[in-house]
Amino acid sequence: MNITLIGTGYVGLVSGIMMSYLGHNVICLDKDRVKIDKLNKAILPIYEPHLDQYLTESLKQEKIKFTYDYDEASKNVDAVFVTVGTPSKLSGEANLEYVYTAIDEISRYLNKNCLLIIKSTVPPTSCDKIISYLAEKNIFSLVAANPEFLREGNAIEDFLNPDRIVIGVSNEESSKILKKIYAPLLKKNIPLLITNLVTAELIKYASNSFLATKIAYINEMANLCEKTGANIHDLSYGMGLDKRIGDKFLKTGPGFGGSCFPKDILALNKIVKDYEANCLILEAVINSNEKRPFDIVNKISFILGEDLQNKNIAILGLTYKAGTDDIRSSPAIMIIKILLSKGANIRASDPLGIIHANEHLEDKNLLYFDSTVEACNGADAVIIATEWPEFTKLNWEKIYTKVKLPIIIDLRNILNARLIKEIGFEYYNIGTKIR
Ligand code: UGA
Repeated sequence: MNITLIGTGYVGLVSGIMMSYLGHNVICLDKDRVKIDKLNKAILPIYEPHLDQYLTESLKQEKIKFTYDYDEASKNVDAVFVTVGTPSKLSGEANLEYVYTAIDEISRYLNKNCLLIIKSTVPPTSCDKIISYLAEKNIFSLVAANPEFLREGNAIEDFLNPDRIVIGVSNEESSKILKKIYAPLLKKNIPLLITNLVTAELIKYASNSFLATKIAYINEMANLCEKTGANIHDLSYGMGLDKRIGDKFLKTGPGFGGSCFPKDILALNKIVKDYEANCLILEAVINSNEKRPFDIVNKISFILGEDLQNKNIAILGLTYKAGTDDIRSSPAIMIIKILLSKGANIRASDPLGIIHANEHLEDKNLLYFDSTVEACNGADAVIIATEWPEFTKLNWEKIYTKVKLPIIIDLRNILNARLIKEIGFEYYNIGTKIR
């Protein structure tokens, strides 16, 4: 099939490249000409493991093309995916400005056999409103909703073997086209849910918010473990063994971040309010996660002594999770900002996140280091903020000789406490009673 995707952000790029791998002829469109020129030379603007190999192969096979020209992108097209961003407005509501701009531009070329598929995360009833909008302009295109569930760092596997494919449609013709697009995956018996437009839209928000709720819940339980002396690792394992609960997304840490969970739960909360439907849980999760970096800094203060002024703190990890170079809404960055506001000197290091962090956060008391060991030089404490496997393999004996005070605060619970203590460090993690 001939498929166009509008928006070459994370979702658009991964989906476009992987759809070309499934055998479709794909055009990815974006208004950013520099980005498009680079993509045509197989240079990716994002980091995603192995995506470059799929891109190079698809370009070689001429299964994918990148353009900024709507005319070119709409020639003989069977389906157009809208994959532009829907950032938060100040109220938390999703901003659909880019979605409508994409629709306005492409609708000049759409024919009535073409299916317009909204993959961007949009609030319930958005697709119905888009149908009315197109009708007002006398454009008779089919419209479908097809939310995505890709995780950064795991996106290729998530695309090829998703837990489910969700499509929201208002007629049979639309579902036929989508089934054809996903035929290679459906052959593998991947569950397919066909529902109406508004339900598909809401599934995305409800899923992300539920996962965020699990994380906030286990973080609150970790706080309780710190007070009672219970073991968070065993608690989470014990809960997860119950198949009704499941063992996923029960890892405690510095809070959930990234470009999706924080934004989507705020948007769902706004939707709930707009519809005057009560959902106290969402508000609690939002508050719990927003408070989390402050709780973490209080814990650091408690361990180091109240005054953080001029303390040298090494922060290992800047990205919101391992396996990505993305620092959007990263708990590590929020913790750094709070520590800086309290007068601490920060020495930060990350395998992939330094470039973006440097663009986003500059301060006279903040230094970035490519070498993790160097970041720990003279530190009063070493904080592990992201669960990079690289940090478990560090030469901690060497780091012990470099630090000023041998204190490690592991916010991801990734180090082996016994081995670290044997070296001579004082070791603190999340969910373990301090003293
Ligand atoms: C998330 C969803 O998992 C995807 O299904 C969805 O498609 C995507 O958002 C999206 O809406 O586009 P992602 O943001 O890439 O994917 O990252 P996750 O792996 O879900 O992690 C989100 C945050 O939760 C990270 O900060 C991570 O460290 C944290 N987390 C995750 C925990 O603190 N504990 C856990 O057990 C799991």
